[in-house]
Amino acid sequence: STAPEMIKVEHVGEKKNVALVTLNRPKALNALCNQLMSELATALKSLDDDKKIGAIVITGNERAFAAGADIKEMVNREFSETLGNNFLGDWTAVSDVRKPVIAAVNGFALGGGNELAMMCDIIYAGDKAQFGQPEINIGTIPGAGGTQRWPRYTGKSLAMELVLTGNKVSAQEAKDAGLVSKVFPADKLVGEAVKLGEKIAEQSPLIVQLAKEAVNKAYETTLAEGVHLERRLFHATFATKDRKEGMSAFAEKRKPTWTSS
Ligand code: CAA
Repeated sequence: STAPEMIKVEHVGEKKNVALVTLNRPKALNALCNQLMSELATALKSLDDDKKIGAIVITGNERAFAAGADIKEMVNREFSETLGNNFLGDWTAVSDVRKPVIAAVNGFALGGGNELAMMCDIIYAGDKAQFGQPEINIGTIPGAGGTQRWPRYTGKSLAMELVLTGNKVSAQEAKDAGLVSKVFPADKLVGEAVKLGEKIAEQSPLIVQLAKEAVNKAYETTLAEGVHLERRLFHATFATKDRKEGMSAFAEKRKPTWTSS
């Protein structure tokens, strides 16, 4: 495959076990055109299969994480082609990643940019970040999860306000609402997100995968089903050597050595 043009992929962290994916279309505020999203999907798939990588960070630049789907690419689209090609359907490549994905959001996370961040597992924000779903201002509605994930993550009132008005919320407001877990000075953000990725990458990849799957189920199903699945996945950890190693290491007062088996 050819090298991507609109994203940059680096292996970072002390052990180079964290992938840093930088959206790199700054002149268009990282508008998520087809080429960028297709490059992102390809990169995420290959990082997901790369045994050396334990976590993935997606970031943009200090002005924009991403200002949404590419409006200029959409202007002349017809209903029949958006339906026929299942436009935006391929964005699920982001939420399909089995490894933890951290969004490090500086600047604008708007429309599809915000939806991309919400497809990630953890959102860290820079103090100047702004989040919103301004689609209503251009005569459309969110199409990559905005109307579904906002209410699940922050409750209905804020979700409705943002989707119906295009109002934006600050990093601190997004944190208060539960969308974002931590806020950092803009220039510290990516480093902190990578540190978080390194901490996750220290754990057993097998167990991390099960843990991510369990938490995500909380947004997909009933409490009874979710708790049932959680217990089964917990039982499944007992089929791994890493579970035995983790508990043995605790009992023997030493650090565990994961073998991903
Ligand atoms: N698509 C295409 N180009 C975009 C873009 C987008 N979503 N957002 C910004 N750009 C381009 C601008 O057209 C401009 O390009 P030119 O220099 O060629 O004119 C460049 O990026 C810089 O943008 P501005 O000059 O507008 O910068 P600003 O600082 O004045 O404003 C902004 C910043 C408020 C984010 C403004 O750019 C803006 O409102 N952008 C659109 C936001 C939006 O509506 N996003 C939702 C898109 S629809 C969607 O995402 C659907 C979905 O659910 C998937």
